[in-house]
Amino acid sequence: MRKAVAILPTFNEAGYIKSLIKSIEDVNKSLEAWEIEILIVDSFSTDDTSTIVKELQKKYGNLHIIEVPKEGLGRAYLQGFNYAINKFNPYLIIQMDADGQHDPKKIPDFLSEIQKGADFVVGTRYSKGGSIPKNWGIHRKILSIGANLFIRLGFMKLQISEWTNGYRAIKTWIVKGALNHIKNYSGYVFQVAMLDYALRNNAKTSEIPVDFKERRYGISKINAYQYILQIFLYVLSYSSFIKFVIVGLIGFVLDFGISFLGINILHKPVWLITLLSTETAIISNFFLNNFWSFDHKRITGPLIAFIIGLTKFNLISSVSIAIQTVGIQLLIYFFGSERWYIYKILIIAFVIIPYSYILYNKVIWKNK
Ligand code: GDD
Ligand code: MN
Repeated sequence: MRKAVAILPTFNEAGYIKSLIKSIEDVNKSLEAWEIEILIVDSFSTDDTSTIVKELQKKYGNLHIIEVPKEGLGRAYLQGFNYAINKFNPYLIIQMDADGQHDPKKIPDFLSEIQKGADFVVGTRYSKGGSIPKNWGIHRKILSIGANLFIRLGFMKLQISEWTNGYRAIKTWIVKGALNHIKNYSGYVFQVAMLDYALRNNAKTSEIPVDFKERRYGISKINAYQYILQIFLYVLSYSSFIKFVIVGLIGFVLDFGISFLGINILHKPVWLITLLSTETAIISNFFLNNFWSFDHKRITGPLIAFIIGLTKFNLISSVSIAIQTVGIQLLIYFFGSERWYIYKILIIAFVIIPYSYILYNKVIWKNK
């Protein structure tokens, strides 16, 4: 039997907690290969939540509760993770809301994904078969869908369709490794930080569609605007992709600046200046990407490793110059030369950026 701990944070969930615990206990009984411990992490609810749980503990030996200060969802989970790891050393940790929005009947689906080899199972509302409450107002829908889209594009991890949902199953080795990282995120944004940490450490992810039901009782504790701001800052500071785009822009400015200086002001031969300006941009891009965009996978030496990396980088860049040259010529041939700058922007956005980003990740800054 493998052990899993289901961690349920609560703040004033007295209206639902009893039937929720009962449902999880029913699921637990039906499992053959798993045993589940239930850990309630309560932030001193002002209703009867903890009294109800303590009463139920007399009936269920696998029901546990810790009480932690109300310092945000991320903080509550952090303490829950620490407690679960020290006390039960489980194989798996399940994260779940305690307000009825996550259906415990889905737990077996999460477990079977783990048995199939996943390290991190994300319950997703935004893939086929999942859903959000029908009566959500338009602005809430836009905020939630928009935030997820922003994270997906920002991290360029399109395979993950939902980053924020709090219904998850995560192998303990990942949670243990992530503790140090997520302790910096006390609010809801820790969900994003956790998944980002897992992906950086090559966790195998899997998704199952879930319905996010209407809240049964009480109110959501989320502050949507604060959440979105935190998500925005998190993605900006951790996204290799966004940094890679910024590095590309710096390269462009360098290339253009040197060309202008050399050709228009110093009147040097165009071929010489072009060689100099493009190579300067390439070298700058290589080092900025190495020490900033892809710093978590950076080349650290010896010297020969840098030389090999820079050579490969030059090759990839040469091919992208060739693609641009040929691409622009083709478009001009078919559609006329008037709008060459639009063609250039389109080629950079839809061909050069994906091409370079993929090759940098696959050839130069590979996952360790
Ligand atoms: N202990 C503790 N301390 N529990 C908390 C706290 C806290 O500070 N804040 C919220 N909770 C509990 C709630 O009692 C509930 O069981 C669960 O955490 C989720 O809180 P809600 O307030 O219901 O959040 P939500 O439904 O708006 O957010 C859900 O969806 C988000 C994505 O849209 C959660 O699953 C989030 O994690 C998720 O990001
Ligand atoms: Mn909720």
